Amino acid sequence: MSARSPSSSQPSDAFIFFGASGDLAYKQVFPALQALTRRGLLEMPVIGIARSDWTLAQLRERARHSLQQHGGVDEAAFERLCARLLYIDGDYHDPRTFERLRAALVGTQRPLHYLAIPPSLFAAVIGGLAAVGCTSNARVIVEKPFGRDLASAQALNRSLHQRFDETAVFRIDHYLGKEPVENLLYFRFANTFLEPIWNRNYVSSVQITMAESFGVQGRGRFYEEVGAIRDVVQNHMLQVLALLAMDPPIGRGADAIRDEKLRILNAISPPARSAVVRGQFRGYRDQEGVASDSKVETFAALRLQIETWRWAGVPFCIRTGKRLATTATEVIVEFKRPPQIIFDEYPLPPSNYLRFRLSPDVFIALGARTKAPGERMSGEDVELVVHDDASEDMMPYERLLGDALRGDDSLFTRDDCVEAAWRVVDPIIHGAGTPLQYEPGSWGPADAMRIVEGRSDWRCLAAPAGEPANGSARIPGRIGSPSTTHGRRQDPIN
Ligand code: BG6
Repeated sequence: MSARSPSSSQPSDAFIFFGASGDLAYKQVFPALQALTRRGLLEMPVIGIARSDWTLAQLRERARHSLQQHGGVDEAAFERLCARLLYIDGDYHDPRTFERLRAALVGTQRPLHYLAIPPSLFAAVIGGLAAVGCTSNARVIVEKPFGRDLASAQALNRSLHQRFDETAVFRIDHYLGKEPVENLLYFRFANTFLEPIWNRNYVSSVQITMAESFGVQGRGRFYEEVGAIRDVVQNHMLQVLALLAMDPPIGRGADAIRDEKLRILNAISPPARSAVVRGQFRGYRDQEGVASDSKVETFAALRLQIETWRWAGVPFCIRTGKRLATTATEVIVEFKRPPQIIFDEYPLPPSNYLRFRLSPDVFIALGARTKAPGERMSGEDVELVVHDDASEDMMPYERLLGDALRGDDSLFTRDDCVEAAWRVVDPIIHGAGTPLQYEPGSWGPADAMRIVEGRSDWRCLAAPAGEPANGSARIPGRIGSPSTTHGRRQDPIN
């Protein structure tokens, strides 16, 4: 039976984070807490819990160090944060840990518990909280990976629902807290010109690339348990896909958006074996914490079909990888060619597309063909930049933790959506064989080309602003890309 949950209009009045000595707290949570404190949104006890034999002074020291590495210390905000910070050292299986927490929470009514810990510890922590009455009127934030597959995600949901209403559960996918990802939804549904062409009659394919030039960055042990498909495809990339493909939500609420996302995820069949390529960069097996015969993929490319009236027959191609040629996340929605050739030359590939650049720089651009000046009726490819966002983005964790404190669940994932996303990738992760090797600095195994059916290669990514085009990263079969732009340099990089 679930505990009473706070109504969405009541903000939380205590913030508790389990895993206070961990990597996630170090990289994301402390910077977000400082930012929230600076904005006056964290006027409540902030309680870190870990089993590290630490003192409060050590936790403060760790927080300072984290801030020095991630955005800098704002002395005034840091001092205010430290004044609110408490620390409980204890094992998550030990009832005394939770008794100390209950004592620390005296005088508060609506705690927000953030489980910044591996999912294998969720059940112990939830049980410990419930035993001392700390789940009553509480909210809980859980981190990805939310389970390892469909069955474990369902089990986790059951265990959460024993103590919390679904409305009190906040599943973090930090991609949903990114400004350009929110803009996918906004741009699609705040403009009328897209809707008539946003379907199988005009769109020939959609490509989503999340490329990272770095490797597993000392997280070999963690990565061995997940691999690229669990780490980013099941969550970040399928969320982006759902935002691109969903129908307009009926109404404004968070659930209206989630209902439409769910419809899309449910309409994706798990891809055939021939529509999946898994790769592993050469040298991965030498990383600390990685098995010498590891079969974990550091690269994945998938072709998905969405069986709806709007999208039937349009390939949605996804690729991601570590140690690739560059770090960039980008979506290309490519439109069909004009129906007749009336000029001598004909552009290849199709020149009409929308490019949504999600990181490291942020812009939306429209690819078009215009006549090149001169006597001949021949043209050139141009990119019209619709939106170029150079503003300082709010950190996703600052946005998401702030939303959870206020009880706003719009940017969090619902139980059925998480399970639907697992259903798409479940057969791939369970039937996975040995991945193909690829060279660090490349675009993954050459086989990934077969995912982009009907084309000879993936569309080129725009080079990150200020970086030269990475010609050395080209893979065989590459075809041309726009050379001219209006307003933005567009050196292609694969
Ligand atoms: C995380 C993954 O969820 O997202 C990492 O675990 C990945 O492997 C990261 O590098 C990418 O997120 P961002 O916001 O840095 O692009």
